Amino acid sequence: MSISVKTSSAQETIELGYTVGRLLKPGDVVCLYGELGAGKTTFIKGVARALGIDEKEITSASFVIIAEHYGEHPLYHIDLYRIEGEDSLFDTGVDEYLQGDGICLIEWAERLNYQCSLSIKIEVGDKEERAFSIEGPEERITNLKKALRAWRKKE
Ligand SMILES: Nc1ncnc2c1ncn2[C@@H]1O[C@H](COP(=O)(O)OP(=O)(O)O)[C@@H](O)[C@H]1O
Ligand SMILES: [Mg+2]
Repeated sequence: MSISVKTSSAQETIELGYTVGRLLKPGDVVCLYGELGAGKTTFIKGVARALGIDEKEITSASFVIIAEHYGEHPLYHIDLYRIEGEDSLFDTGVDEYLQGDGICLIEWAERLNYQCSLSIKIEVGDKEERAFSIEGPEERITNLKKALRAWRKKE
């Protein structure tokens, strides 16, 4: 099942990340897809906020492939932009993070072959518009729809 959501500013994407983040559970793996500058890292800032992690900790560091953050649950921010080939992926030890009890968020998830709890595709539109397509199991998406209705109502 999937749901489409549009945002029209980075701040709104952080709020969307927050709304999704509140519904995540330990062991969840969220896969993010979208070109450079689409808003993957920005979205993860909102997830961090939902876990009580300072969003300033979430950065697009050039060398770090896996960054660990500790909030209500551990958040593992995995950015595979610089990964080339299966071997170097294996070397990162990413598997242990995926099997662990933290919440994993993966940028450039197409470089990994993994069945994620949620898949999020971001398309860049005009100006600051971003179109999100969030796919996952029915129960998840139903809960997310409810949470998003409550969020939109606040505006
Ligand atoms: N609606 C939006 N959602 C997310 N980011 C946006 C939006 N509008 C503009 N931006 C800008 O686009 C950039 C997204 O960067 P980032 O989150 O690092 O992308 P990615 O991780 O996908 O490469 C930021 O500079 C952000 O301010
Ligand atoms: Mg990024």
